[in-house]
Amino acid sequence: MKVVILKDAAEVAKYGADIFIKQIKRKPDSVLGLATGSTPVALYKELISAYQSGRVSFKNVSSFNLDEYLGLTGTHPQSYRYFMSQQLFDHIDIEKSQTAVPPGDAEDPFSACEQYEHNIKQKGGIDIQLLGIGRNGHIGFNEPSSSLMSRTRVKTLTRATIDDNARFFGPDEYQPHLSITMGIGTILESKKVVLLATGANKAEAIKATVEGPLTAACPASALQMHEHVVLVIDEAAASQLADVDFYKHIEMENQKLLERLGRD
Ligand code: F6R
Repeated sequence: MKVVILKDAAEVAKYGADIFIKQIKRKPDSVLGLATGSTPVALYKELISAYQSGRVSFKNVSSFNLDEYLGLTGTHPQSYRYFMSQQLFDHIDIEKSQTAVPPGDAEDPFSACEQYEHNIKQKGGIDIQLLGIGRNGHIGFNEPSSSLMSRTRVKTLTRATIDDNARFFGPDEYQPHLSITMGIGTILESKKVVLLATGANKAEAIKATVEGPLTAACPASALQMHEHVVLVIDEAAASQLADVDFYKHIEMENQKLLERLGRD
């Protein structure tokens, strides 16, 4: 697992965005896996400004989002489809028809999940998947106890996740307690994974992800099995790791090696 520890959330966003920009430059028709939540917002801002300054184009890119609330239409301000339009899609040149978010208003959510998996395969799989992480170690809406081989499916949210996300809903507003989410198995099939975490409230989950056992109790620990995963985290999120200096040393050595070989 590659662990990159940076000073703060701004550096995390820049570093993460650069990985995506390089990916799109290498493969202009990249299939991106995208996430919502607070953490990726700063990264999306970096991507928007890279697009506006002509550093990158999303014209041939397609995307699949990790998850969506079940019971909300894409025009609902709390839906993840709406979030993606506001935070990214409306500000770049991506073809909206090439952006997929699980349909929260599907009449038959079970077949919608199968269709989502099918659509990802049809595109040739996800080239690079962006992830945040919940305080309980969830990725997507794969809450603790999720099968490590799970596919896109309907998931019940834990009380902790409902409480964490309550801040986005008004006091009298209906807050869904079900979701459609890519499974851990789906996520593990993407060719690369970039997980972002910032702030001390993620420190425990990051410790369990990097140094804990591989366990469904911390769904993100399944990433230990992935060949190309990078965790981009700030000092606060790294604060419970046993050997921060060692991870920093590895990253320095990696950078030196890449420079010597003229690679990025
Ligand atoms: C969002 C998602 C979630 C979030 C996680 C962290 O699509 O899949 O797993 O990444 O809940 O959310 P924030 O970034 O708001 O702390």
